Amino acid sequence: MSAILEAIFRRRSIRKYEEKPVPKDLLLQLLQAAMAGPSAHNGRPWEFVVITDEATMAKLRSHLKYGKHNAPAAIAVCYNPAIASSPSSKRWWVQDCAAALENMLIAAPGLGLGAVWIGIYPKASSVKLVRRILGLPPEVTPFGLVYTGFPAEEKPPRTQFEESRVHWEHF
Ligand SMILES: Cc1cc2nc3c(=O)[nH]c(=O)nc-3n(C[C@H](O)[C@H](O)[C@H](O)COP(=O)(O)O)c2cc1C
Repeated sequence: MSAILEAIFRRRSIRKYEEKPVPKDLLLQLLQAAMAGPSAHNGRPWEFVVITDEATMAKLRSHLKYGKHNAPAAIAVCYNPAIASSPSSKRWWVQDCAAALENMLIAAPGLGLGAVWIGIYPKASSVKLVRRILGLPPEVTPFGLVYTGFPAEEKPPRTQFEESRVHWEHF
């Protein structure tokens, strides 16, 4: 099996973490993976907020119903229309941010990290909350969080391939 397929199958949602900080170098590698992602018209309308401060993590955990996991760090993927390098790219920002986020999830196991996607957009209450906690300006939208850290649980690699979902040539 190819190395990239192995990496894709190894990506699993990790929700239990060691109480150990994530070195900055590894966070930077996750960000490199994020910004290697594709974006419409190469618009790259994304900005990232890296959170390692325990007080901020505690706030996120206490307010996000599905984000209570004990990860020591998080990376917020945000959309900033003011920096989209191409005006026609703006309507694709959700896909652009999703691709960046997914790249981080795929990169994490190869760096010895676990990670999980915490959905924020389009849930209005979560968007408002994360904007407030992270001090984002009103025009910047938090799309999602990657919680990350050294994993304290193991999950087997897998695909969830189902032949019945595939239509060749015609639906
Ligand atoms: C848009 C999106 C939002 C998600 N939000 C959360 C979340 O808030 N909390 C969480 O623990 N997992 C969240 N997940 C992870 C899914 O629950 C997980 O991917 C799914 O159960 C499949 O498991 P796997 O990631 O191990 O393959 C989210 C995934 C996606 C794609």
